[in-house]
Amino acid sequence: MSPVVARTRAELKAARAGMGGVVGVVMTMGALHSGHAGLLRAARESSDHLVMTLFVNPLQFGPNEDFDRYPRTFERDLEIAAAEGVDVVFAPTVDQMYPHGEPSVRVNPGPVGEILEGASRPGFFHGVLTVVSKLLHLTGADVAYFGEKDYQQLTLIRAMVRDLDLDVEIRGVPTVREPDGLALSSRNRYLSDAERRIALALSRALRAGAQAAADGEGPEATLAAADKELDGPELDYLVLTDPDLGPPPEHGPARLLVAARVGTTRLIDNIPVEIR
Ligand code: PAF
Repeated sequence: MSPVVARTRAELKAARAGMGGVVGVVMTMGALHSGHAGLLRAARESSDHLVMTLFVNPLQFGPNEDFDRYPRTFERDLEIAAAEGVDVVFAPTVDQMYPHGEPSVRVNPGPVGEILEGASRPGFFHGVLTVVSKLLHLTGADVAYFGEKDYQQLTLIRAMVRDLDLDVEIRGVPTVREPDGLALSSRNRYLSDAERRIALALSRALRAGAQAAADGEGPEATLAAADKELDGPELDYLVLTDPDLGPPPEHGPARLLVAARVGTTRLIDNIPVEIR
């Protein structure tokens, strides 16, 4: 069945009023791919009702990032939402989301918002957390699902919910990959065949690092094993952290994260590792 499409706050409120039980939400900027479908499926399985938001958020685009050129594929997105059992798609205009213009009050992500992605995209996580908190309020969801692919985003959303006492549960969903390891991303569409082959170095590096860690080689050798695989793409960062993006532990669960440019496309990926 086709989802109800709510374009305004009032329409969302009306659609939301009829929902009992556990309401899940998956937030997207559209241009849906199989990664989003996996996220919707995970959410659908443990929710009584599922809301998907579709909003290209101008607040998280920098001056050199083209908000107007972001892919918009509404009809296709709706088909995917329908196939995954979404009940309501909330697809507001910019004026609906920001009726008073650019908000002067924004959610401050703190120091973790300044590193990694935040270092090359100033203000990005202020924009993400501001729209996520607004969408949590507007949808009134009980559980919100975010992909582990954007691990720093997921970490910061968890921190926001914890620090601001928001009454919602955040669940991370593992990254969906192509059979050859490439993490699904809206940006993969910009890769030529040759660039796509080069891009495989990212997931290869993460697997090599995770294997070194599992073999008990320690944090430095873990990073070295990953780094050895990264000679094609133009590396931005390769870091090993604890699960909250703090300094890496000597032992136990950790996260290996990479960002690199292939041609003009910037890609990110990450993997959980266990340091033995
Ligand atoms: O991950 C995304 O697509 C966006 O950052 C999100 C969470 C929908 C907020 O605009």
